Amino acid sequence: MCGIVGYIGNKEAFPIIINGLKRLEYRGYDSAGIALVQNGIVQYKKQGKVADLEQFSCTKNTSGSIGIGHTRWATHGEPNDVNAHPHTSMHGKFTIIHNGIIENYSSLCRQLAERGAYKCASETDTEILANLIEYVYEKEHVSAEKAVRIALSQVEGAYGLLVLCADEPDKIIAARNGSPLVIGVGNGEYFLASDATPIVEYTNRIIYLNDKEIAVISKHELSLKTLFNDTLTPIIQELDLDIECIEKAGFDHFMQKEIFEQPKSITDTFRGRASKNPPEIYLGGLYNVMDKLDKADRIIVVACGTSWHAGLVGEYAIEELARIPVEVEYASEFRYRNPIIRANDVVIAISQSGETADTLAAVRLAKNAGATVIGVCNVVGSSITRETDAGVYTHAGPEIGVASTKAFTAQVTVLTMMALFLGKRRKELATERYEELITELYNVPALIEEILLDNEKYLHVARLYKDAPNSIYLGRGILFPVALEGALKMKEISYIHAEGYPAAEMKHGPIALIDENMPVIIIATKDKSYDKVVSNIQEVKARKGKVIAVVSKGDTVIAQLADHVFEVPECDSFIAPLTTVVPLQLLSYHVAVLRACNVDQPRNLAKSVTVE
Ligand code: AGP
Ligand code: GLU
Repeated sequence: MCGIVGYIGNKEAFPIIINGLKRLEYRGYDSAGIALVQNGIVQYKKQGKVADLEQFSCTKNTSGSIGIGHTRWATHGEPNDVNAHPHTSMHGKFTIIHNGIIENYSSLCRQLAERGAYKCASETDTEILANLIEYVYEKEHVSAEKAVRIALSQVEGAYGLLVLCADEPDKIIAARNGSPLVIGVGNGEYFLASDATPIVEYTNRIIYLNDKEIAVISKHELSLKTLFNDTLTPIIQELDLDIECIEKAGFDHFMQKEIFEQPKSITDTFRGRASKNPPEIYLGGLYNVMDKLDKADRIIVVACGTSWHAGLVGEYAIEELARIPVEVEYASEFRYRNPIIRANDVVIAISQSGETADTLAAVRLAKNAGATVIGVCNVVGSSITRETDAGVYTHAGPEIGVASTKAFTAQVTVLTMMALFLGKRRKELATERYEELITELYNVPALIEEILLDNEKYLHVARLYKDAPNSIYLGRGILFPVALEGALKMKEISYIHAEGYPAAEMKHGPIALIDENMPVIIIATKDKSYDKVVSNIQEVKARKGKVIAVVSKGDTVIAQLADHVFEVPECDSFIAPLTTVVPLQLLSYHVAVLRACNVDQPRNLAKSVTVE
């Protein structure tokens, strides 16, 4: 988490860094700070948003063409001005910003206190690192770069780091281990950032820093090394990212824009991979692991949050259409529980950001155990995409809203395509059914367009239930993960407690919660469980619960029973997760707006969870 921006060149650094931090605010927004090289290094920092920092700095001297900035997602020490980054070492030589966690910070702190009476002003792990670098620098009489390298050799944990040294004010030192860092290459200028979004308006020439690499950057020169001092040749890649994709384009919030973008993002996801005439799936990204996929006895999906929900949808689809056993694991559990991984396992890591620390660690674990690892990621060039054996990008475009929406539907689209592709290869799927499902998949963008037309209806229901303290989401089969996802959307952006359950589980406990004040959101489209879900609705109504049902268009049975219905066009049950989730996304969006919540940047959350 946390966003990092740096600039070195001939322009004024302050506006570039502030604008960049605003683009990265989705990564954390507890506090923001900036350090600029002037006559010496000055720094301004403030609890709150980047706009608060901007306001605070407007009467200050913000000149300088070299600088570093940070927007924080606090891990060590509460969000306040003192704990805000940058942090300067005790004797003022080093000023650093950091994304990640220095896990051995307390032992480093003890050692430093013993050696040189070092004291920290803040409660952060980061300040200890600044002091450690300075300690090495002063004791060993080495260059700033060498001091950083030596200090980092003593550090356990994750970092994306930018360092300024008062004695070498013409350079920025950048280092990475576990937290992302990219370098934009301009003409006589360099940009540094946690991802490419702050850079794209200046240059599309990008260097991705790898783990255990360090870059020393001056206006005209960049040197790249490993932390063990081996010189590397920087590889410059061309980035294909349009600036319009990272603006709100007339919408009030990024989340709203991203929900409405889904017909396009799904089309982009199957462009070149699904053809209509003849109906066929091509997943070129998997060809180099095809023999492994053909032999796989089992697929293990690792992911977190919404991506984990997409994985559950994938489990239903792959098991049923391709008859391959699938296990879906929380990456954070998988990585620490000594799982059984065999060489014939294929692990699919799903991640919008491609940077989630737990998912990345699960990928490494699986690879070390000899499994074939496939990534399903959205951010091109992200860490997971670079560490997996093969992958299928979701191509949803940048997702800025912290609550994932279009990334989820893009992930489900990819997993559905995989299920069809594998079903055909394994001869588990009749050609007719294969072609029918591809044709249905092709219709999804048009179906979602239709669902989006009912926006006023979602708003109306949101007005009625915006003050409910709790809600229950129910679904069955492949729509159970959609219930989980609907509940997650509601809780993360509106702070209403919401629980997702398989509809039939309700009677094993949650039913005790139902009374006339409990909204129960039930996904009840026409599929093989329809009659059973209708019975679940009856059970809720018998206890006076309020039923909001997502139903197939024209359903008169549930329309009689439920308090409100959201209609979605009828489609195959394997396609239904893509349609039924949309009313749930919009319901939570409107509830959050009506409750005056910060929809794009919900409290305590960050988009890219690069700490475990
Ligand atoms: C979704 O709305 C969340 N904010 C969160 O659960 C997210 O899906 C999770 O952190 C995983 O992120 P990733 O897809 O980038 O790995
Ligand atoms: N661990 C550091 C802190 O708490 C950095 C957290 C982050 O990545 O924003 O300040």
